[in-house]
Amino acid sequence: MAAHFDLLIRNGTCVLPWGAEAIDAGVRDGRIAALGAGPDATADTVLDATGLHVLPGLIDPHVHLRDPGDKAVESIPTGTRGAILGGLTAVFDMPNTSPAITGAEQLNWKQAYAETAAWCDMGLYVGGTKTNIPGLPTLESGRGVCGIKIFAGSSTGDLMIEDDEHLEMAMRSGRRRIAFHSEDEYRLQARKPMFKSGDPYASHMVWRDEECAFLGTRRLMALARKTGRPAHILHVSTAQELDYLKDFQDIATCEVLVNHLTQVAPDCYERLEGFGVMNPPIRGQAHRDAAWRAIADGTVDTIGSDHAPHPRDKKLLPWPDCPAGLTGVQTLVPIMLDHVNAGRLSLGRMADLMSAGPARVYGAIGKGRLAAGYDGDFTLVDMKRERRIEESWIASPCGWTPFAGMWIKGWPVATIIRGQIVMRDDEVLGAPSGKLVKFLG
Ligand code: DOR
Ligand code: ZN
Repeated sequence: MAAHFDLLIRNGTCVLPWGAEAIDAGVRDGRIAALGAGPDATADTVLDATGLHVLPGLIDPHVHLRDPGDKAVESIPTGTRGAILGGLTAVFDMPNTSPAITGAEQLNWKQAYAETAAWCDMGLYVGGTKTNIPGLPTLESGRGVCGIKIFAGSSTGDLMIEDDEHLEMAMRSGRRRIAFHSEDEYRLQARKPMFKSGDPYASHMVWRDEECAFLGTRRLMALARKTGRPAHILHVSTAQELDYLKDFQDIATCEVLVNHLTQVAPDCYERLEGFGVMNPPIRGQAHRDAAWRAIADGTVDTIGSDHAPHPRDKKLLPWPDCPAGLTGVQTLVPIMLDHVNAGRLSLGRMADLMSAGPARVYGAIGKGRLAAGYDGDFTLVDMKRERRIEESWIASPCGWTPFAGMWIKGWPVATIIRGQIVMRDDEVLGAPSGKLVKFLG
């Protein structure tokens, strides 16, 4: 008897761990049941993927959905809706909300809320602070927790552990990989008086200079070595750090952002003003080139958007009163597909960085590859589709994107999560049914 599936994706080109193959994919009970289903196979739902590439469900491991916080800017329902419209099947959400996710009470609330409100699957970070260090081992093993996030330098919100003594204590409390915002807080504070309100927006990268980031990463690598605790350096922005991290691949993984691969100074500050300001800053051409080299040579493990919405009127303020952070969850996949079409990386490497990478770095179970037994998560893309990024397409209530007007070749046309088609051709289908991602440990 021919096999029967809940969902059958026919006639597409699947991006498998070992390469692209024209093969049908069958999903049963939310999991991939067959790759190569055979011509006689039947299904409740058949999706014709002729002309499309079928990628493993793409994950954005770095978003700030601001929930709890200001729903007029972003929230879990709106941010995850943007995620599925942009071809993502899961996002990992940062803890610098208002209030921040730093204890059991906030975490329990967020777990329960995400399970009713999210359109895609979610991982949750818990923030490390100087006062919650003893509780970190329990918190990091909470349901849906992808890991502890520590701001070693200040950014949006008040989460921070800036001194080596407390950083070391935090690294000795628990054992899963810790994700770090790496900028040296002492150097940031020491340089602040060099600037005044109304200075050019490009002052942002002068204040938060390369040495702020490089010094932060040197200090964190010394502590990771000393304690043996695995680290993940988020949004690496300098050539110096990428070079340095090559010697720490046994203990540290790292992320680069689509922003640092796409935008460049001084253009971003001249053209976008406050809408080009983020931490760590967008820098010059040499750093962007270094990021692409690090993608090619295997230094980089994951790519994220660092989706960090702020109200439009606040981003219009003079520097440094405009808050740092750029939206990006919905534009991450299209922009990376455009980079693939431009020949900057292969589609296989993109799937490695945006699906297998986050799953490996954080220990996500059942995510990261198209293989039998894995979750039936797929991002279907049309590599030939050309389209302009429009702000009218953006689901985030803040309503802006620094990539507005950019022409893109390659577009996500369907998002499938655990066998459910949740987005098809710009249309969101069904009701929010996102779940918490399960993690090892
Ligand atoms: O630019 C940034 N914005 N960098 C961060 O580290 C935080 C983020 C935010 O939450 O606004
Ligand atoms: Zn961030």
